Order: sequence, then C-alpha cells, then structure tokens
Amino acid sequence: MKEAHVIVDRDFAIGDTDPRLFGAFVEHLGRCVYGGIYEPGHPTADERGFRGDVLALVRELAPTIIRYPGGNFVSGYNWEDGVGPVEKRPRRLDLAWMSTEPNTFGTNEFMDWCRAADVEPMLAVNLGTRGPDDARRLLEYCNFPGGTELSDLRRAHGWEKPHDVKFWCLGNEMDGPWQMEMKTATEYGRIATEAAKLMKWIDPTIELAACGSSSRNMPTFGSWEDTVLEHCFDHVEFISLHTYLNNYADDTPSFLASADLMDTFIDEVVAIADAVAARRRSDKRIMLSFDEWNVWYRTRRKNEGRTKLGWPVAPPILEEIYDMQDALAFGGACLSLLNHADRVKSACLAQLVNAIAPIMTETGGPAWRQSIFYPFRDMSRLGRGRVLRTRVSSPTYSTVYYDPRGTSELRFPMPDVPYLKLSVVDNVEEGTVTLFALNRNLEETLTVETQVRGFGALSLDEAHELRHSDLKATNTKDRPDEIRPAPLQGVEITGDRVRARLAPASWNVIRLSARRS
Ligand code: AHR
Repeated sequence: MKEAHVIVDRDFAIGDTDPRLFGAFVEHLGRCVYGGIYEPGHPTADERGFRGDVLALVRELAPTIIRYPGGNFVSGYNWEDGVGPVEKRPRRLDLAWMSTEPNTFGTNEFMDWCRAADVEPMLAVNLGTRGPDDARRLLEYCNFPGGTELSDLRRAHGWEKPHDVKFWCLGNEMDGPWQMEMKTATEYGRIATEAAKLMKWIDPTIELAACGSSSRNMPTFGSWEDTVLEHCFDHVEFISLHTYLNNYADDTPSFLASADLMDTFIDEVVAIADAVAARRRSDKRIMLSFDEWNVWYRTRRKNEGRTKLGWPVAPPILEEIYDMQDALAFGGACLSLLNHADRVKSACLAQLVNAIAPIMTETGGPAWRQSIFYPFRDMSRLGRGRVLRTRVSSPTYSTVYYDPRGTSELRFPMPDVPYLKLSVVDNVEEGTVTLFALNRNLEETLTVETQVRGFGALSLDEAHELRHSDLKATNTKDRPDEIRPAPLQGVEITGDRVRARLAPASWNVIRLSARRS
C-alpha cells in the first residue's frame, strides 16, 4: 500500500475561487442547443421549448456562467439571424460544423434560458467573418436600455429590459486554420483592440477576454499571446486558454498525468501576460479565462464535425461517451483550475449537453448524467472559497505525454508524476474545509494523511468517492447510474489530522467541519 502526506495551513492560501471558475459552454453544435437545452414538443419542455429534465440536471451540476453561441460556430454567425419573429429567421449553412442552422434559438432565447437555469450569460462576438462593427451592434442590442435603433429593436422583439451581459469573448480560436477567417496574431490583436474600444465606449462595465492560442500544442503558442496582448493589454481583462485532454494512445497512466499539463499551460500564460505587463511597467494583471476545457478524443479523431453529412439540422456529432477513466482525467483538470484560483478567474467546461458534455439526452426521450458530471458537480458545489496551498509528498510515476496533431505528433516524457493530485478549499462562511483528491495509481490504495493546520478540531461532514472496477464503464440511457458517487468509508480524524484510504483509480471528496478560533 502506498502512502502520501499533505500539509495545509489556514494562513497560506493561493486565492479565492471566482464564481465564474465554474462555468460551462453552449454552442450551436450538433444537439447541444436543438435536442439538448431546447426541444419544443419534448414532454418536459415548457412553453418556450426549454427541456425541463435538462434544466433540472443543469441546476444540479451547478455551472455559474455559460459561454454562447460558440466556439467555431461564432466565427460565421450573424446574430441578427437569431432575433425577431421566429418564422422570419433565415436558415443558413454553418461552415463550422457543416450543418444547417435553423436559427429558431438565438440570443434572446439564450438570455431567457440563462435566467431559467440561474446562470450568468457570457457572449462571444464574431471576429471571423465579421468584426468590431458587428460586435458593437450586438452589444448595443443587448445592453443599451433604449432610445436607439438597436436597443429599441430588442424592445420591439419583446425584451424590454437590457440583458446586461457583463462578460464578452472577442472571437474564438482565431489562430486556428479551421476557423472561419483565421487571423495572424497581429491581425487579430488589432481587430480585438478596436472591437474592445468600441464595446467599452458603449458599456464601460463589461469585461473582455481576448483569444489566446487554441491550445498549448499550437506552433504559435507563446508568441501568439505575447503579440495579441501587446496590442490589447490596455483594453481587456482576460486572455483565453483551451485544452482538451486525450487518451488517443489508450494509455491510462499517461492520460491521467496529462491533466498536469494544464497547470504548466496556466503558469506559462501567466508568465507571458506578466511579461507584457512588465514591459509596460504596469501593475495591471491580465486574468485567465479557461473558456474551453474537457476530455475529448474519440469523436475528434473521426473528425465528425467536418464530415459531409448533407447539411443536416442538429446532427448527433461530437457525442463523446465518457467512461470512468475520463472522469478521473477530468477530475485532474478540475484540480488544476482550483489550484490556480489566483489567476484563473473564469473557466467553461466545453460543453454542457450532448456535444462533449456531462449531460446526455435522447431527442424525445430521457436525459442522464455522464461520468464527468460528478467531479464538476463536486467542484462547483463544494469548491467555493479560499484555495489553500498544499505541500504534497506522494509516490510518483513516470510516463509519456502523447498527442497526435494532424500529420505530426507530440510525445515527451513526464517524469515524477505524483499519484496524488489534490486541492483543498476553505469555505469561511460555511465553516468547512474540503479536500478534493485523485488517486492516479491504478493498482494500489493510497493512504493519505493530511495535516490541516490552524482550524482547531476537525470533524467529518461528508466523504464520497467515484470509482468503478472497470475503467471503461460508462453511463447510458439504460444504465444511467453505472457510475455514480458512493460514500467513502474509513476516514479517520484525530485533532487536525485526517487519514483517508483512497481506492486505486478514484476521485474523492472529503468535507470537514472546522471549528476556527
Ligand atoms: O468545443 C468544441 C470546439 O472546440 C469549439 O467550437 C472550438 O472552439 C474548439 O476547437
């Protein structure tokens, strides 16, 4: 049996989790909108067509902010197509996903859905086929109270009050050749800056995220962030990051370790953003918006999105069926986000329903939770507060990171990966300290002894684990509860010490009541 030791101290914190750290993403992609959150005629749908069963699962998952309408989709989107009388809205070819977009769901419906789901909206503007002028027009339509053509158009459409959207993304993955009207860093930096100026002149209360590289593996990663921020540093609050973990190599230890590359990625982007600040002698700190993250590889390799299917409406594409090991890698990504709460102030699980999503539906049928649903629910429900610094000594293993990219591949060693990956969050208001812990050892139980200093005597509130004897087990419509959390037995507390036995390949949550003086 392996042992790990952890020390945390009430006086040493990384930072507070921002509520926006627990966001998700709804794109016009496959069945995420149509047949996902929106399905008029579904037995649980309300008069607006919002699926009630999906809304109930979204509330249980507890995302806080939802990015919309893309993704790749936004780079060809005319927002005007999705507002006004539904019968007059055009059907258009969507070149991002080779689908037909019926536009029966658009910006105003999304705002209503956000209210129903009790989440904040995050909108992306089209800086692909359109540009700064379109961005300012959409902002005026959404946020200006009235008395101008576009704000009065919103009112005429039935939304009297402004939507008051605070968080805006300046385009999406503009460095990617797959993007409609991709740009060089200089081209994008200029356009993002001009869009930001126009938007903030209309509404100075908004916050803006510029596009970072679409992944750490892009050849331009680093220089892209540097150039883009050189242009728009004074005009934006955030730079974005995207990561999709993969298990292409069918190598579970490597897959579970790969989540640690999110930590590296975050540290690197922070360094670049702060270098841009240093060159200006500025104390402004650009925050990170990890506005796409998840596990995604099965349906990516098949390149489903670009398959010529005959331009269907809402085809079942990117419907990744997540297994137990995906939930573990996903849990590792949650820990990376929590452990960078000082700089990652916004993050969006991509996506929410059906397309690479924690919630699956059958069109006309039921909705159920995928394996990755549970670590996210834990993180969002129990991860609010001050993330504490951890000193972890854990046995380690060595592996190799592997990621095929087009015709080339990335492969490099990852030595000394700790079996234990952990985050500890102190919720002062609730008087709790929560340990989130991943045991990446596939064969052996890991005994973890944690000293939680400075909180007085501790007692156990709750403890649960997520594991399955078959790492390839999945939840399906017929077996929706094959993977679900179960109580974690045997947690021992002595004074300020917590001893827990983490099963092989398991995600664990231990919530303590802390009597602080
Ligand atoms: O989330 C799926 C797609 O992944 C998004 O549309 C795009 O931004 C990314 O490449």
